[in-house]
Amino acid sequence: MALIEIRGVTTIFGPAPPTALRKLRSGLDKSALLGSGHTLALRDVDLDIEAGEIFVLMGPSGSGKSTLLRHINRLIEPTAGRVHVDGQDVMALRTRELVALRRRRMAMVFQGFGLLDHRRVVDNVALGLELRGVGQRERRTRAMQWIERVGLSGYEERLPAQLSGGMRQRVGLARALASETDIILMDEPFSALDPPIRAQLQRELLALQAEQGRTVVFVTHDLDEALRIGSRLAILRDGAVVQVGTPWEVLTQPADAPSADFARHVNRARALAIGSALAPWPADLPMPDPANATDTVDADASIEQVLHQLVGRTDPLAVRRGNVIVGQVSMSSVRALLAPPDRVSPRQVPEGSENRSA
Ligand SMILES: Nc1ncnc2c1ncn2[C@@H]1O[C@H](COP(=O)(O)OP(=O)(O)O)[C@@H](O)[C@H]1O
Ligand SMILES: [Mg+2]
Repeated sequence: MALIEIRGVTTIFGPAPPTALRKLRSGLDKSALLGSGHTLALRDVDLDIEAGEIFVLMGPSGSGKSTLLRHINRLIEPTAGRVHVDGQDVMALRTRELVALRRRRMAMVFQGFGLLDHRRVVDNVALGLELRGVGQRERRTRAMQWIERVGLSGYEERLPAQLSGGMRQRVGLARALASETDIILMDEPFSALDPPIRAQLQRELLALQAEQGRTVVFVTHDLDEALRIGSRLAILRDGAVVQVGTPWEVLTQPADAPSADFARHVNRARALAIGSALAPWPADLPMPDPANATDTVDADASIEQVLHQLVGRTDPLAVRRGNVIVGQVSMSSVRALLAPPDRVSPRQVPEGSENRSA
């Protein structure tokens, strides 16, 4: 059983969603629905999100990403369908149970940072612990650990207004991590940041994830970002999931023409992690020491970042995740990943699915 199971979720915004849903099911099309003042935000969404993965919801603006994310902690309720977290039916929870689920299991990070302006950094970071009734001294100790972990030591007494955008988002991240929930929901957390800061925070998120193993559901409209950080991606278009797959699958077998077009313009060396090209470590070779940085690379590093270690190398390069060697890469496996873009073609569309994206 997946940690988060989403089944048959359809969400309509407007004055009378249940009526609109009945009409939709009896064959009314989307434009007629619009005429009655309703928006079909999600339709028939099924997803399984596994514990410990960074699952990315990716799609253009208005495709339903935020709505879907907010169904997981029930900030928004779907018109039809079910959401289960760890086997628990989120829609069936009473208010008190729902509050407990949000505090203990799910933290959220927003694009607009969502910080409390009148609170110092340390008190913002400690918010989740405070809501759970952790005492002040203990809260501060734990918050300070996370402040240090995200590189904000020395800023703990500042107010959010005294920080740059990148630093504010570090506060948001530290707060989510400090809440000690096993699930973190992130809605375009890095979209407002400048590219270098953004790339840095993406790397840090990957490093934290490798260390912490929490489950992250991450919304972005940026395919490069989605490919870079996602263990798996769901591509949304007009409220429907058109594809679920690993970055590699999404790039090489795009589900539809718009995805294929996107895939053609992706800088694969930058977008794909070296771990995408993983092969088993040869049984006849001694296993290198994971601490040896010249003979090993981090699985989450981009191909671009480790290319210099591969070029001209004859023996396989070991790939580590944390302190474990998880396999090897070679120039030829990487070359296959970086195959010319014209080899990308839309996947065969299954019969009967053409009217879903119409
Ligand atoms: N509270 C709301 N009331 C009416 N329509 C909404 C509301 N929230 C979202 N929508 C509409 O639902 C669709 C999906 O929105 P959203 O989930 O925010 O998309 P995304 O996050 O992918 O940009 C959009 O057409 C949006 O305008
Ligand atoms: Mg959104």
